Amino acid sequence: MDKKSQIDREKLPRHIAVIMDGNGRWAKRQGHNRVFGHKHGVTAVRETVEASAELGIQYLTLYAFSTENWSRPKMEVDALMELLVRTIKSEVKTLMKNDIRLAVIGKTDMLPERSRNRLAEAMEETKNNKRMTVVLALSYSSKWEITEAIRQIAEDAKAGKINPTGINEQTLSDHLSTKGMPDPELMIRTSGEQRISNFLLWQLAYAELYFTETLWPDFRKEHLYEAIVDYQQRERRFGKISEQIKPQIS
Ligand code: IPE
Ligand code: IPE
Ligand code: MG
Repeated sequence: MDKKSQIDREKLPRHIAVIMDGNGRWAKRQGHNRVFGHKHGVTAVRETVEASAELGIQYLTLYAFSTENWSRPKMEVDALMELLVRTIKSEVKTLMKNDIRLAVIGKTDMLPERSRNRLAEAMEETKNNKRMTVVLALSYSSKWEITEAIRQIAEDAKAGKINPTGINEQTLSDHLSTKGMPDPELMIRTSGEQRISNFLLWQLAYAELYFTETLWPDFRKEHLYEAIVDYQQRERRFGKISEQIKPQIS
């Protein structure tokens, strides 16, 4: 039986987050430079977006560039920024056709002006689309995001807009750039690395983590189905015991 038909449509994650890793190694294995791998990663993005929309996933967050990635060689950073501009330009039509909204989280003021403008245009154009939201984590750092949220909350408290004794988990969630989105139930990382790399630390508190050896440029719809099937076989206990989760037969 193929993986897609094994998916229980009643138990889909509402939000899937992906650390798209392994482009450089993929390229190197074929005797090419790292940028070649990033270019081929675009096909995997397209496949993942399409498969998620077809299944009825509501939010798909793709980690495309971390704040730490700014420390890579300038040539690679420039190529990635250029690829971003070109990809967004060419994909907006498809987003419109498929009723997909584009959102961005991250320290976007660090991006070159051209990339920022292109992103702003694409977000504006797709803002009323309803089927699915693709969130690009760009120049993103979770520690930065949490720090910013705390700074904002402290300012609001100082200005008397909120009472410090009333601050709760929801207050923090509401000050993150993912405000209003459900937390990801499933986080996928490709390329065999098993770490979080400063990605959605707060939001992933209870996510199921799925690691695959597949390098990002090789990732296809079938790989996503496989991850979802694996996720659906897990028991999410949230601190309880198994007997409290399973439907009781009386
Ligand atoms: C992920 O692939 C893409 C970005 C971080 C932009 P990498 O470029 O990290 O590829 P590897 O991990 O070096 O193979
Ligand atoms: C994490 O990948 C960021 C993205 C996928 C955009 P990296 O390949 O940069 O992560 P580390 O630094 O090796 O953990
Ligand atoms: Mg990497």
